This record gives sequence, C-alpha cells and structure tokens, in this order.
Amino acid sequence: MSSRTPASGSTGYVEDVSPGRGTLPPRAWYASSDAASLSLNGGWRLRVSETADAEDDSFAEPGFDAGDWAEVTVPGHWVLQGHGAPVYTNHLYPFPVDPPHVPTENPTGDHLRLFDLPGDWPADGTAVLRFDGVESCARVWLNGTDIGEFKGSRLPHEFAVGALLKPAGNVLAVRVHQWSAGSYLEDQDQWWLPGIFRDVTLLHRPDGAAGDFFVHADYDHVTGEGTLRVDSAAGARVTVPELGVDVAAGEPVTLPVEPWTAETPRLYDGVLATAGERVPLRIGFRTVALDDGVIKVNGTPLLFKGVNRHEWHPRRGRALDLATMREDVLLMKRHNVNAVRTSHYPPHPAFLALCDEYGLWVIDECDLETHGFVEQDWRDNPVDDDRWTPALLDRAARMVERDKNHPSVVMWSLGNEAGTGRGLTAMADWIHGRDPSRPVHYEGDFGCRDTDVYSRMYLPHAEVERAGEGLDGGTHRRRGLPLILCEYGHAMGNGPGGLADYQRLFESYDRLQGGFVWEWIDHGVEHPALGYAYGGDFGEELHDGNFVCDGLVFPDRTPSPGLIEYKKVIEPVRIEPGDADGTVRVTNRYDFADLSPLEFVFSHQVDGLPTEERRLAVPSPAPGESAEVKLPAAPDGGGAEVQWTVRAVLAEDTPWAGRGHEVAWAQGTVTRRAPLPAATGARPAVDGDRITLGPAVFDARTGAPRTLCGVPVRDLRLDVWRATTDNDDGASWQTDTRYGPLWRELGLHRMRHRLEAVEADGDALTVRTRVAPAGREAGLRTAYRWTSDGGRVRLTVSVVPDGDWQVPLPRLGIRFGLPGATAEDSVRWFGGGGEAYPDTRAASRDLQWDARVGELQTPYVRPQENGARADVRWAETGGLRVDGEPEFWFTARPWTTEHLDAARHRTDLVPDGTVWVNLDHRQHGIGSQSCGPGPLPRYYLWPEPAEFSFVFSEPGDRPRG
Ligand code: GAL
Repeated sequence: MSSRTPASGSTGYVEDVSPGRGTLPPRAWYASSDAASLSLNGGWRLRVSETADAEDDSFAEPGFDAGDWAEVTVPGHWVLQGHGAPVYTNHLYPFPVDPPHVPTENPTGDHLRLFDLPGDWPADGTAVLRFDGVESCARVWLNGTDIGEFKGSRLPHEFAVGALLKPAGNVLAVRVHQWSAGSYLEDQDQWWLPGIFRDVTLLHRPDGAAGDFFVHADYDHVTGEGTLRVDSAAGARVTVPELGVDVAAGEPVTLPVEPWTAETPRLYDGVLATAGERVPLRIGFRTVALDDGVIKVNGTPLLFKGVNRHEWHPRRGRALDLATMREDVLLMKRHNVNAVRTSHYPPHPAFLALCDEYGLWVIDECDLETHGFVEQDWRDNPVDDDRWTPALLDRAARMVERDKNHPSVVMWSLGNEAGTGRGLTAMADWIHGRDPSRPVHYEGDFGCRDTDVYSRMYLPHAEVERAGEGLDGGTHRRRGLPLILCEYGHAMGNGPGGLADYQRLFESYDRLQGGFVWEWIDHGVEHPALGYAYGGDFGEELHDGNFVCDGLVFPDRTPSPGLIEYKKVIEPVRIEPGDADGTVRVTNRYDFADLSPLEFVFSHQVDGLPTEERRLAVPSPAPGESAEVKLPAAPDGGGAEVQWTVRAVLAEDTPWAGRGHEVAWAQGTVTRRAPLPAATGARPAVDGDRITLGPAVFDARTGAPRTLCGVPVRDLRLDVWRATTDNDDGASWQTDTRYGPLWRELGLHRMRHRLEAVEADGDALTVRTRVAPAGREAGLRTAYRWTSDGGRVRLTVSVVPDGDWQVPLPRLGIRFGLPGATAEDSVRWFGGGGEAYPDTRAASRDLQWDARVGELQTPYVRPQENGARADVRWAETGGLRVDGEPEFWFTARPWTTEHLDAARHRTDLVPDGTVWVNLDHRQHGIGSQSCGPGPLPRYYLWPEPAEFSFVFSEPGDRPRG
C-alpha cells in the first residue's frame, strides 16, 4: 500500500489501515462495584486546525498554556459546538475515494484536559484510560507521554496508564482527526461528526481485578432450568443470592430459573468477586438457536417488531445522555416495538443495559460500512482486501467483547452495506468461534455464506411473500434460513405506507421473522432559522438533503404518525369481531407472555361519542391462542352510527408504562348512520351577478359559491394535487415508476378549470367544467350540482376522466378557502383521529374529535402533504358544518397546498389569513418509495368516474335522511 509522507512526519497513522497502536485488548464493559473510577467528561480545551499536521505535539506537554483555546463539552462533537459544521451524505464519501488516503484538509481537534486524582484514589494496582467513542481517529498523550492512537469510532479503546499518573496536575491530550483510514469503514448514512462523543473515564484497576469475563446463561425450555457459567480469572467466585448460587468462576451450575425474554425481561442480580474487585452482574437466562430454519429463543420462534436505531440528539448529535437513551427505550416499549437493530454501530453501552432491563431483542451491529465503494463497482473495497482485515477483526472483537454479557443481544451483525469479501468472512468466523451462542447477521451477502439468517432490506411485499412460501430461490444454505427484513418501511416524511400489509405476511409464514422499520429518529439538527436543518443546510458540497430525516420520531422524539401506525400494526393483542354477532375475538400475539398484565375495557359510541367505559372480562389465552367474548348490548343510535371500541390496557404499573397505558384496541360497527338528506326543494334564483339557492350565494358568471350558510368561501373547486411527499417523489435511484415527478411533469399541480356551463334550472344549480393542465390532453370533466332544502345546501361532485390518463391522481376532492379563519380556529369532526392515508390508516380511530387547525398539521422536517383525517362523517370549522356521503378525507391548513409544496423547512410555513379545507373523496397511497417499494396497487387512485356529495349546514345541525 502506498502512503503519503505527512508534512510533520508524525501523522502517518491517520492513513494507516491498522486499527491503532498502544491499546489494550478488548474486554467486557462493566462498572465495578468497588474499584475507583474518575469521569473525565466535562469541559475540555479545544483547538481546531485545518490539517492533521498543522500543529506540533507541544500541546501535549505539561505546562502548555491553552488559556486562549476554546472550551468544548466532552462527550460532544466540536462541529455542533460552534467549530466548523456537520456534513451529511448518505453513501457517498465526502472526499475522493482513494483508500487509505484522506484529504489534506482534515479538521483536527486538539483536546486538552487537566485533572487531579481524587484524594482517596488507591495507591495500589494500576489504571486504565477508556475512551468509549471518538470519531474518527485519535492520538493520545498522558503527561507528555505518547500512549498510542486508535480508530473505530463507536467502539471502546483502553490504554494502561497507571505508571504515568500523578496525584495532581495530570495532562490528558487527545488529538482527534475528522478523517482517517477508518473513515473508509464508517460510511454510514448519517452526519459526519468528529469529536470525543462518548465518555472518557479513568478506571482504577486493583491487583486481581476481573478484567474480562463472559457470562454464559442458557435456558432449557424443556426442563425449565438455566445453566450459568461465568468465565473469568482463576479464583473468582460467582454468587446469585436469589438463586442460592455460589460457585467458582468457570464452574457451571444448573437450576430452575425464570427465563429472560424481551417480553418478560427477568434478570437475576449476581456478583462476580475476584481477588481485587466485585463486579455486579445482571443475568438473563435465554438460549438463542437456529432450529427448523427459524430463530428460536428458549424454544420459541421470534417475530421481530423492530426498529433501526441510530444514536441521535438534535443538539448533541451522537453524544447521548442516559436520560435520552432511556427515553428511546421507553418510547419503543410504549409503542409495542420489541426489537432494535443498532444501525449501524454498537450503541453506547448503557443503551444495551436498558434493553436488558426493559426487554428488547437486540441485533448488535458492528461499526462497519463501506457503501461508497458501490460507485466504483466495489473496486478496492476494504472488506475484500486483506490489508484491512486486521482492522475489521479488531472492530468485531471490540463489539463482541464489550457487549457479550447482555442477554438482550441475540444476534451479532457484521456491519451494513459493505459489499462482500474475505474480510467479512474473517469477521464471521472469528465471531462464530468466540461466541457460538448467537447467530451472525449481515444483509449484504444474499448467498448467506457467512450468516445464520437471510436478511434483506426494502423488499416489496410480493417478494416477501414468495420468500415466505419458500419460492425465492437462492443458495441451498439460504433456503434453509429464516428471512428478516433488517430494514423496511422507510419512515421518511409522511409514511411509511404498507406496514399493515407487511405485518400480515410476517404473521402468515413461519420463515418470515419480522423486520426493523427504517428508522427510529429523524437526524434533524436544531437550527434557529430553519427549525431543523438537514443535508445541504451547512453548505456541504455533496449531500443528500433530507434523506437524513427518515424516522418514526421527529428530532425532538415526538412520535410521528408513522410510529402511531406502527404501534397499532404490531400490537401484541388482536381484537376483532368474533364469529357470532355481538362478540369479539381476542388473540394473544405475544411470543411468550400471557395476557394477565392486561385488562380489557369497552365502550359503545353513538355518532362518535362514547358511552361510559366498562371492564370486559377476557380470559388470558396463551401465545397464539384466542378467546371469544360477548359484548354487552349496544344502545339504539336513533339513526346515528353506533360502534363498539375495545381496548387492552395495562392492569398495573410496569417499569415502562403506567397502569391504563393502552397496548391494543379495535373498533367495530353495530349500526351504520342513516343516509344524508337529499336537501332539495329550494330553487336557484338569479339576482344580478348572484345566484341564491337556499342559504348559499353563488357568483352568477362562474357558478362558484361566495357564501355557504352565511360563511364566505373562496375558490371552491376540484383539487387533485398534494404537496408531494418524500415517498411520492421517491429516491433518484429507483427504477420503478415514481409518481411524484410524473405528476409534476404532467402538470397536476397547475390544473386549469375551464368553465363550460352554469345551469340554474329546476331545483339545482349545475356548474360544468373541464379540469386539465396546460399542454396536455388528459382532463377531468367535473360537474358541481348544488341543491338545497332551504336550510342546508348539498353539493354533488361528478368527475369523469377524459383523454389518455397514464398516472394515478394524488387526491380527488374539493378544496376551498375560509377567509379570515386562522390556525387557532377549532375543528370538530366525527371520523378518524390521527393523520391517515389509504395505506397508513390502521391507527385511525373513529371518535368525535376536537382540535385547532394548527394542531392538524404534522410538522414533517421537510414540509409535505400531511394531516388528512380518514373516514370523516362530518366536520365543523369556521362556522360551517359539512356532512359527507360517503365518508371523506378531511384536511385543513392555514396555508395553501402550493405554499406547503414550496416550503423546504418548517419555518417556511406561515399562515396566510385563510384556512384551506380539502374534502377528499379519495387519496393515493403513500408507500415507501423514498427508499423502497411504492404503494401496493390496491392503494392507487386511478382516474375513473366518481361521484361524491357534501351537505353544508350550520354547526350543530345533524342532517339525517
Ligand atoms: C439503507 C441503509 C441505511 C439507510 C437507508 C435509507 O440502504 O442501510 O443506512 O441509508 O438505506 O435511509
């Protein structure tokens, strides 16, 4: 390998493919009960230079005066603390691909920290300095002595420093380079964020310290017994008081235990006592096995209802504190998520401890991605180049050794999107040898040469189904393995659509063991002028825009509608109408737990107003089993719609949610609402430039309504456009048709409305138009037929497509403005509660709802179509009531669709003094094409003849036929 001679001669390690120099062998990560430790987190001095070799090493010498340096917080990234800027690319390296070389412009942060040892720091033993995460390459000096350097950003690195420590005035100097040979292995789709972003700790290591240890805690589901063996230093003892265990390290002990599962995260507290220290153990007994072509834990096949989690905080980047990590775990548990893939690197170790405690299955992924090599057909890919293999093995070992004692970790992942190669095989071989108790995962090798599970990302439903049926082909080895979707349901912007359809497949075929939605959180950077910044907002020369905002929660961790949908789709209890009338069937969809922690409640609702909620006695079926329960008699709706709602809620407080927290729910119809009145009888009357019809006044020339029931309305007309979503636009590399760009090309965002006739005859005012974009023949013949009974006014819209339509429509309905209405105005409606679209409507719950117009907006980081409510029977806002026949999609915004479409950031959206209301007959599906398949064909909105009606009246009116 060629290498450049750096100017100072001392920074050659930056471009060296080796993992580093001077570090200790990797080992288990633990916090000793009694050995001293000193956190070196906090304020550090910082000097950033433009190149790796701009400054000499003198800053590391004791006595160096850094008084005029800046101060930064460690853990942290200097680019998020006012020094330089973050860079976002998906898979392109933001530097020339010329491995192992990196740019001469290589922001380098010299970090300095002075510290004294606490007065009671023990005199015996030795000490270790641990870095839990530094991006991307660091060289370290303690008290002027060069102790080594390392790469592997999201992995721990330790140095023996005992001999160098002084009681007071220690000088720790760390030179961090943004770019290094290691950067070639860290091409994950995220911000490039240099810095010391995880903890720095000095650990006293007493004589006879535990050092490394390996807890083996298996569970035999046939006998109900666990076998514990802790491999550690000779002479160490293991005690587990609750189990009466007191054995020598290395000695197995078998006894009855309660197993650990993500649903029942039973941990036993133990202690590993060596000559020098006591180490707390949290032991979970479970056995992971590939058996009959499926992954089983404790003899039971798993169904992953997972998410991909990057570490993210909108101000602190990947420097997460414990509270934020816990928030992630609690949010996941509360939304029925049962698994996490730590995409695409081992997380802060505290996160795994939380997964053990609260119960989440974890695929722990190595800090490895070389995706940018795809641009050159994977030429020079480090994972297929023996010179890099030591670095790959170092990364594998640092992950496995650090995390091997977590019961939550049920699979190791070699990394992400790194092509294929001998380096990966070497990693897999090493991991299989070191820890045969866990399967190995990697997505990029479809032949499954090195892996124990067949893993794919963004497979369309049909391919998932074929794999479920075993018809997908592939190598002999692969055909014997279960399929998981390590990524699916791309949660960028509005969406993902189609989750319920995936879940149905996962639940239908044994070989399908679920998946992990991409991804947990939007990586938006808090920004004073933009709301949240994304790629390109920092002037990056290469970037991938808002592709970095594709999470189920917004950057501040507010759940987006996608998470609410996912929660419903993966709920562990299915409630549905039973076989007999007036019954519901309750199915336990947990893999391990019974339903005893839950209680069931029911109510009826009339016109969306619930009766008092009451307990419903439901037996506790075993996993996979169902029980059928009779519902009490429903009230008479007197022409109004009657429904039932059954909810499963926590009967007691749990560590992750309080009593009453809703886990699952369902609704059903008892009686439908009566048809709407025809609203006829009144006759249109021409009066100068106006036509009046009952409580409506129209422009005599255009036939457009000016007021309805006394409320001014403007621009009421057919509307087919929506501000395209990220999933409508699709990703540029998608080879399937992407409708967002086609819609725009066709001109659906600039439809012209040619007036053909205004006919006031009999009891109707009929306005005929043809709606079409300039330059095209395709159009929609649209007739608006208005009638009234004197008090109410009814509009029937008929649409007949005309010409050669090759694309579906984004939406089909009417839009109008309510001048003078504001974001503060309230909306009341009976219909679905949260945002919903045809393939994202599982969580839409029918009730009477109340919200302000502003609250109906979903604040996607990049503004786009949002906020539709499904199945709306009626809605009231701005002094107007509208009842729909059939039910309609309701949307109201304090700005126009055009404005929404043009906005790039939340802060671009400013109310324009009118509330714009869309009443849609249909909507096109959402899909997942921002990085996956588009909507399934059944969610397409093809232009075809359609007719739909609305009755306008005064609020509080309840038109009935
Ligand atoms: C996958 C990749 C992820 C992310 C995602 C798109 O290909 O593994 O890291 O880039 O696509 O958001």
